[in-house]
Amino acid sequence: MARTPFLAGNWKMFKTGGEAAEFVEQFKPAVAGLTGRQVALAVPATALERTAAAAKGTGIIIGAQNLHWEKEGAFTGEISVGMIKDAGGSMAIIGHSERRTYFAETDEVVAKKVAAALSGGLLAVLCLGENLAQRESGEWEAFLAGQLKGSLAAVGGLDLANLIVAYEPIWAIGTGKTATADEAEKTQAHVRKELASLLGDAVASATRILYGGSVKPDNAASLMAQPNIDGVLVGGASLKADSFSGIVKY
Ligand code: PGA
Repeated sequence: MARTPFLAGNWKMFKTGGEAAEFVEQFKPAVAGLTGRQVALAVPATALERTAAAAKGTGIIIGAQNLHWEKEGAFTGEISVGMIKDAGGSMAIIGHSERRTYFAETDEVVAKKVAAALSGGLLAVLCLGENLAQRESGEWEAFLAGQLKGSLAAVGGLDLANLIVAYEPIWAIGTGKTATADEAEKTQAHVRKELASLLGDAVASATRILYGGSVKPDNAASLMAQPNIDGVLVGGASLKADSFSGIVKY
């Protein structure tokens, strides 16, 4: 089954609404006429509405970087799936390693968020990735299998067409050290095999698996040429319209 390439930016805690709107203006020409791929931006919650308004009619998918699994309630500082949609978002990144590391998100919490996003109709970009010690010790294989299983523990009975998985080795995020295309391919083939054992072959072959970690305009094409790399999740290089343009036009 053909998997439509998915190229997403993760702005992290960068850009006000005004800066986001300005980015979209500069970036728009890059996506005009671009076919056969989807382009997305995960923006700060405060910039969702203005980014979505600026991107109207461009086909760029706008989303959040986190969400709460409840519809509403006494959860100070959190935003729900309904709030993301109300602000013009249709996607959310879930379980990014920065959320797992700095905000103590466990697989259990991530699983609830993935289920809430999918049942609310958002594209759910589930992030996974091992650290350097796990890579070097060879433990990464078992670790990623466990993280995938734990993070998908609550999707039973849900439509998985909107599920996207992003493999982001922690040692490659913001470090300038990319996994080689071969290394990423081998790891993502492993993730797809684990997806098949958890959710069946049909889901595994339809689910897009993105690579993230120091993706730049000059390495995007070699990553995208790999059979198990269906897209990229880009941090630093998504902040400037010219570099993200180079990536989406790989
Ligand atoms: P980076 O970040 O591209 O700056 O390495 C990737 C990410 O954290 O999603």
